Amino acid sequence: MKPAASLLVRHARELLTMNGPPPARDAKGAWDEAPLGCIADGAVALHEGAVVAVGRSDEVERSIALTGDATVIDARDELVAPGLVDAHTHSLFVGDRSNEYGMRVRGATYAEIAAQGGGIASSVRALRSADDGALHAVLRDRVARMRAFGVTTVEVKTGYALDTAHELRCLDAMARVPGVIPTWLPFHAVPPELRGVTDGRARYLRAVRDEMLPAVLAQGVARFVDAYLDGPGFQVDEVRAVIAEAQRAGLGVRLHVGQFEDVGGAEYAAEIGAASVDHLEHVSDAGLRAMAAAKVTAVLLPGAAFSLGQPMPDARRMRALGVEVALATDCNPGTSFTENLPLMASFAVRQMGLSTVEAWWALTRVAARSLGCESRAVIAPGHRASVVRYAMPSWASLPYEFGAPRAVAVVADDARALARIG
Ligand code: NIG
Ligand code: FE
Repeated sequence: MKPAASLLVRHARELLTMNGPPPARDAKGAWDEAPLGCIADGAVALHEGAVVAVGRSDEVERSIALTGDATVIDARDELVAPGLVDAHTHSLFVGDRSNEYGMRVRGATYAEIAAQGGGIASSVRALRSADDGALHAVLRDRVARMRAFGVTTVEVKTGYALDTAHELRCLDAMARVPGVIPTWLPFHAVPPELRGVTDGRARYLRAVRDEMLPAVLAQGVARFVDAYLDGPGFQVDEVRAVIAEAQRAGLGVRLHVGQFEDVGGAEYAAEIGAASVDHLEHVSDAGLRAMAAAKVTAVLLPGAAFSLGQPMPDARRMRALGVEVALATDCNPGTSFTENLPLMASFAVRQMGLSTVEAWWALTRVAARSLGCESRAVIAPGHRASVVRYAMPSWASLPYEFGAPRAVAVVADDARALARIG
């Protein structure tokens, strides 16, 4: 008997399943397109949130039984692909810091602005003054705008609250927005009320350990824990105990490492089996080799490097050393005010040494794997994949048509695929 299908998307100019092998060069040194699983005149059929058939349109139509109320979409001239995955954002923020961008353009550094009470502290003040409804609305609206770029899964970090009550409010707001994977980031900065106070830093670290950690674990919303391990952030020994405790409770670990200085975060991430190490503008070969051996994903953030006027992270070097690379927006009001994930592919292909095939792999398979939801990024029978239609003629257009949103519609997006994480 043919399987039932209640949704059919057919006649896509190109349909990407992303169900191929990892990117590799062919005999002539060109990047093989096999990872994309690209099907010309492609179709995908779904039923109750799961893919039932995928292939050439005529084959798929023959292999399924459409239900009486089925929706049939002709995607002629369109690209159809799994939804993109933004694996590093601070999307739950309030207000803007365009004044700081202006100061940096005129020569001030990120650290100088932070030392004057700007930077993360300024976003903390803005966020704490927003009520629950405003927090939910700001995230819901931002995630909706990201969908216009084809993004259906968004990791979102706390870290602009930095006290127990407000961190819990942020996690609660995240839990209410479909497609969001919440990360608890207590080690973002010392909160403004404890700066310049005797023992302020030590008091904050104690509060995270004794008060915030148990409260966050009891709430049960956070999937990952994160720490900003950098010159202006925290040192490995300051965060170790809390991260270990969070890991024991089942949270995955993501780490900000080497945005400004290499303080040994890559080696630490490998030692503890972190899910991802993010930024990596500054990292040693030894750190990268340790990550490769421990299968820790690098999440590169070209938007932050661009906005800070820094050199781009060297994706080619990381891939050569065996590190899997994802790309993310780092969407935040300080260093990367963008909701545009495909733009990160444009940076990666022109300025970071990735091929377009690798960029697609980075935005789907690798990013999703680092978040524990890889099956969502593969259009294959049985998968609760998210499926996006783009007004673009080809997969090659993703980095090429840069800047503007191109997703026409998210046609399938089953929240159960995310609910299974962790
Ligand atoms: O990933 N550097 C740490 N965190 C952010 C910036 C946060 C901010 O400046 O508000 C980043 O770039
Ligand atoms: Fe970040």
